[in-house]
Amino acid sequence: MQSRYHETYAQWSADPEAFWRKEAEKIRWFRKPDAIFDGSAGVYGRWFPDAETNTCYNCLDRHVEAGRGDQKAVIYDSPMTGAKQSFTYAEVLKEVEAVATAIAALGIGKGDRVIIYMPMIPQAVFSMLACSRLGAVHSVVFGGFAAHELATRIDDCAAKLVITASCGLEPGRTVAYKPLLDHAIDMAQHKPAHCLVYQRDQLHAPLHAGRDVDFETAVDAERQKGTRVPCVPVLATDPLYVLYTSGTTGQPKGVVRDNGGHMVALQWTMRNLYGVNPGEVFWAASDIGWVVGHSYIVYGPLLTGNTTIIFEGKPVGTPDAGTFWRVVSEHDVKALFTAPTAFRAIRRDDPDGEFVAKYDLSRFRTLFLAGERADPETIKWAERMLNVPVIDHWWQTETGWPMACNPIGLGQLPVKYGSPSVAVPGYKIEVLDDEGHPVGPDTLGNVVVKLPLPPGCLVSFWNADERFRSSCLAEFPGYYKTADAGYMDKDGYLFIMARTDDIINCAGHRLSTGAMEEVCAMHPDVAECAVIGIADELKGQIPCGFLVLKNKVTRDAALIKKEIVNLVRDEIGPVAAFKTVMIVERLPKTRSGKILRGTMQKIADGLPWKMPATIDDPAILDEITEHLKAHGHG
Ligand code: COA
Ligand code: AMP
Repeated sequence: MQSRYHETYAQWSADPEAFWRKEAEKIRWFRKPDAIFDGSAGVYGRWFPDAETNTCYNCLDRHVEAGRGDQKAVIYDSPMTGAKQSFTYAEVLKEVEAVATAIAALGIGKGDRVIIYMPMIPQAVFSMLACSRLGAVHSVVFGGFAAHELATRIDDCAAKLVITASCGLEPGRTVAYKPLLDHAIDMAQHKPAHCLVYQRDQLHAPLHAGRDVDFETAVDAERQKGTRVPCVPVLATDPLYVLYTSGTTGQPKGVVRDNGGHMVALQWTMRNLYGVNPGEVFWAASDIGWVVGHSYIVYGPLLTGNTTIIFEGKPVGTPDAGTFWRVVSEHDVKALFTAPTAFRAIRRDDPDGEFVAKYDLSRFRTLFLAGERADPETIKWAERMLNVPVIDHWWQTETGWPMACNPIGLGQLPVKYGSPSVAVPGYKIEVLDDEGHPVGPDTLGNVVVKLPLPPGCLVSFWNADERFRSSCLAEFPGYYKTADAGYMDKDGYLFIMARTDDIINCAGHRLSTGAMEEVCAMHPDVAECAVIGIADELKGQIPCGFLVLKNKVTRDAALIKKEIVNLVRDEIGPVAAFKTVMIVERLPKTRSGKILRGTMQKIADGLPWKMPATIDDPAILDEITEHLKAHGHG
């Protein structure tokens, strides 16, 4: 089939407002949009400024009203517990109304912020939708983050309520959430009025009288009563959620997503990029704590009337490298979306695809990979094993949906390995040099998107318009800076090569090395430090810390290293995967005192590097090289 990509991109490009006006017709509005875009509102303009809607209504009620009530909406499959459960659209609606009533009774209404700190269980998704039903703003915090990260988020969004569970389940380990939450609330300046706690069988959490409420007791009471809760009309421009993501400092950035533009964009992507139809099963094997979970476990599939899967497990070890294939065949998954690292893990454990052969995957259509660079070897392996198109696509928390993709729904374009393919309609992607001038084809530069960003992208950071302007819009006026470096070839295929800031991608998780440096510097024996991302065969990158100790420190170096590893784990969380630490005599710097992290990274990864002209003392790089070699790097 001839791809409709070029014609669709040209249509968008010729008249973006007409393009999005047409797409907006697929959403149910309580008040239809007259104006499509107001360039004078917000930081760079706002989409559908006069429309009213409700996201939960579009995800649930509308399908039930249209006769889809008996279709499966959510499948919960947990190899961690052995549980398998499914909920129809009508059942999810009932659960969401019960949760919405329970949280309304705790004082939650339109505009209030609710933190959701939960593992991959259906109650987490019901809680997100319940917030959206009431017009409340949810902020989901990934379970792998520890108390300090949680406290930062509670403070930043001034959460009135925290919804949590007694525990998460990691292979070989039960993660008790409640002590982490209690500690976070102790640390936070702002105190949430209530915590709604879902008790799991694996671990019961003690509740604080007055503040903590048992989730199931509160929700079941409403479920029994069958209380109906109307969807609260919100402006299309009102916030649906805040999702914190790593910035260059320890203070995470609260990406704000609105209601209207978000729905218009996501429903467009389900059909035109992911190529799935209502009624089909779409599985994003990610976590609701990440943007992929927000867009493609919860909102995208439900808006489109798909069945989505909440998977509580890992690609390997729960129980084996065949788990993904079991889920795909058992639940008739048409499209799977995951991170390349998951495939590297599966390939490592099952290089010849013996597990693949055990399952009937004949109805499976497409594999999508994103979150980090997909190395061609992994893609080719997946293509050989699965015999379906493997689509690498590029986006970030800020955009909420793909910026570059090979659009299966519009018709697949030729594949170029190592490239997430072409700009998606909505995005005019350019590559600029550091002075802001466009560079030619195949030339590395800063990847930017021409403003305005399309519907569904971040509208700002929570309560921090100025930070949004200065970190994303100021450096290249008229453009959004993605902070990725890359190049575009003559056919418009984009190649994303690296970040231009100190964000690293570890096992598909976005982490800030700056935040890790801040934690290392808290240790009383540390004089200064640098954390860089170094190449890792499985996880893509892992953090590596270089510590200079204070002069008078005589304590055992191994003990200090252990303390620092634990400090990062306790402050940021296990997800930081901070395990590689070296104590060095000095750090390489420029004459003006800037640590040469980029050069250190090249040495660590065994890449060619040039002696920086501004280096203060070249001998220090030899010392760093020796340390890295001693640890098996470089
Ligand atoms: N709650 C608590 N802890 C968590 C957690 C969660 N939700 N998720 C991860 N962790 C912990 C892990 O248990 C691990 O702890 P450990 O140091 O005690 O072993 C640590 O955080 C690091 O986790 P991770 O980097 O994910 O490594 P892993 O060895 O547990 O798993 C992979 C490796 C590749 C199997 C796994 O990272 C994976 O499935 N990645 C896909 C990521 C993904 O889906 N990203 C979303 C974008 S699409
Ligand atoms: P996150 O906000 O966690 O989704 O991380 C976004 C970042 O991950 C991007 O800015 C890129 O650096 C990286 N990334 C995501 N998808 C891809 C991809 N397909 N190829 C290369 N890098 C990617």
